[in-house]
Parts: sequence; C-alpha cells; structure tokens
Amino acid sequence: SPRHAQKSVKDYIRTIVDFPKEGIIFRDVTTLFQDARGFRMAVDQLLSPYAGEQIDKVVGLEARGFILGGAVAHQLTVGFVPIRKKGKLPGAVLSEAYQLEYGEAVMEIHDDAIKPGERVLIVDDLLATGGTAKAAIKLCERLGAEVIGCAFVIDLPDLGGRKLLEDGGVDVFSLVSYD
Ligand code: PRP
Ligand code: ADE
Repeated sequence: SPRHAQKSVKDYIRTIVDFPKEGIIFRDVTTLFQDARGFRMAVDQLLSPYAGEQIDKVVGLEARGFILGGAVAHQLTVGFVPIRKKGKLPGAVLSEAYQLEYGEAVMEIHDDAIKPGERVLIVDDLLATGGTAKAAIKLCERLGAEVIGCAFVIDLPDLGGRKLLEDGGVDVFSLVSYD
C-alpha cells in the first residue's frame, strides 16, 4: 500500500488462530482499542449512521461491548446501560437465555434501566451467530424500548447473526466483515 495510506479500522484488528480453542479464528479488538486513532475511528464510524436520530440510551453487551458502548454513550451525551452475564447485576433484573455452541447462557438487564418508549442503540464488538444480540434485543423490548439499531465493529456473516437480527426486523450496522 502507498506510504501515506490511512489505516482503516480493519488494519487494527488482530487475528489469532485456534483461540479459545482449535478451529476458531479469533478476531481480537484489543489492538484496535489500544491505539488512540484506531479507537476513535471505530467509535466515530459506529455513530455515523445515527447522526440526527434521537437516541435515549446506549446498551452495551458484556464485555467488549462495554468499552465501545461507553465511548459511544459519552460521545452522544446519553446514558449507558450494561447487559451482563447472569448473576453480575446487583439489582432486580430481567433474564434471557440464549444458545451457545455448547449449551446455554443467560444475559440480564436491570428492570429499571430503560423506560417504555425510550429509543436505544445496542453496541457490541462482534456479531457471530447473533444469539447474544438477539437476547439483548428481547431484554430491551421487554422493558418497552424501541431498538433503533444494533451496531458492531465486526460482522461474521457466515455465522448467520446479521440475517437472524434483520429477519426479526432490527437494523444492523457493522464496520468490517470477515467471510
Ligand atoms: C463474544 C462477542 C459477542 C458474542 C458474539 O462475546 O463479544 O458478545 O461473543 O457471539 P454470538 O453472535 O454468536 O452470540 P463472548 O461471549 O466471548 O463474551 P466476552 O465478551 O465476555 O468475552
Ligand atoms: N465471538 C464469537 N466468535 C468470535 C470470533 N471469531 N472472534 C472473536 N470473538 C468472537
């Protein structure tokens, strides 16, 4: 590439093969987050489709969605709501089970975190099967929120998450994809 070519978000993402187990091609965003330009580029690009839209809350998914979602919420000057794995939130919660490759996991949200009618943007680092994001959408909708979109840095379209969410009527936005 030309000597002065600007780096893109994808240039900052590191790939680690066989993590956390054999056969998985792990897309590591720590190398994006640790770079000042990379991190700002990712947050700015995640926000760009929503300019001019009213957003009341940003919802971030444990754990890497907290890093991105916190920065997005701060930039928008709106509140941040965490969706966490079972047993981590201290107050009264709603729970949603979702499928993992092996067995099941549970995500939770505080039952007073979003008011009916609030417009929320869900943020995470990566969309794979979509199970995590679908559980998050359900939790938000059970609180009466309007999910205006789900924004990810990375989409793995072969794993079907984008189709799953779009078939459910939710707008999906991502910065980079890997086949
Ligand atoms: C990863 C990723 C997403 C989810 C995507 O999180 O950060 O949240 O998997 O997978 P899916 O689309 O198939 O549901 P992980 O479950 O590894 O949790 P962590 O961020 O706490 O490590
Ligand atoms: N979460 C699910 N699949 C992943 C992958 N390939 N890389 C990073 N995080 C993931």
